[in-house]
Amino acid sequence: MAGRFEGKVALVTGAASGIGRGSAQAFAQEGASVVVADVAEDGGHETVKLIEDAGGRAAFVRADVSKAAEVEALVEQAIATFGRLDYAHNNAGVLGTARPAHEIDEADWDRLIAINLKGVWLCMKYEVPQMLEHGGAIVNTSSAAGLVGMQALGAYTASKHGVAGLTKSAALDYAKLGIRVNAVCPGGVDTPLVRNIEDPGSFPPQAMPVMPRFGTPEDIANAVIWLCSDDSSYVTGHLLSVDGAMTVQ
Ligand SMILES: NC(=O)c1ccc[n+]([C@@H]2O[C@H](COP(=O)([O-])OP(=O)(O)OC[C@H]3O[C@@H](n4cnc5c(N)ncnc54)[C@H](O)[C@@H]3O)[C@@H](O)[C@H]2O)c1
Repeated sequence: MAGRFEGKVALVTGAASGIGRGSAQAFAQEGASVVVADVAEDGGHETVKLIEDAGGRAAFVRADVSKAAEVEALVEQAIATFGRLDYAHNNAGVLGTARPAHEIDEADWDRLIAINLKGVWLCMKYEVPQMLEHGGAIVNTSSAAGLVGMQALGAYTASKHGVAGLTKSAALDYAKLGIRVNAVCPGGVDTPLVRNIEDPGSFPPQAMPVMPRFGTPEDIANAVIWLCSDDSSYVTGHLLSVDGAMTVQ
């Protein structure tokens, strides 16, 4: 596949499914070699197959983003397999159960923050040293819930606001060092994360898009690719809403 990212290497977490799979496929379509990272092995291998069947290059690495040793090994494996790292989409995340703040279990809070927020930080911790050698671009997946409050989603909303703040601080850390750091803030996107909600009625109206459809993984991937491309070379520290006007209300 020839494209804007020929000769480049992209790493995508949460790439066994949904938004991450769409992003991994889009990086490959642009010519990048793609490291598909996830805890879900079957889905990860399926993403690699989809990319290879379309003529692209990809490799699956099993990694839990909440565990430092696994993230360090993931980046080492990326370098061992493809030789460099240019782009990262730190995207793995979980939604948790919808309930008011005082009813959140401590274990659920800790798990969600460990995956959604600490996981993004751990990924950057090990990705950035590779990118300092030649420059790069990082896109973190925040959420509409990283910009506004969402009733009954306190832990999730806290984690995604955390990703937004981390993204802005990291953009400052690396603005003079050739690494841009941005975030996408999806609204409702048609993925298993949304389809598996046990009680959709428990989610507030503000968690629904205003445009008359849910987003698609391709909608988010288009934003991720733009944020990694030279077309956005003066954009860093930006939180890009891709939400069908959810947060404009
Ligand atoms: N779907 C939406 O409406 C929506 C909206 C805003 C933000 N997001 C965010 O987008 C990201 C992707 O979500 P999605 O909708 O594609 O959901 P998804 O469930 O389809 O994909 C999430 C992927 O993350 C993986 N994952 C979970 N925990 C992990 C861990 N500890 N280490 C590595 N991988 C792990 C899962 O196995 C899964 O493959 C998440 O961060 C989510 O919060 C989704």
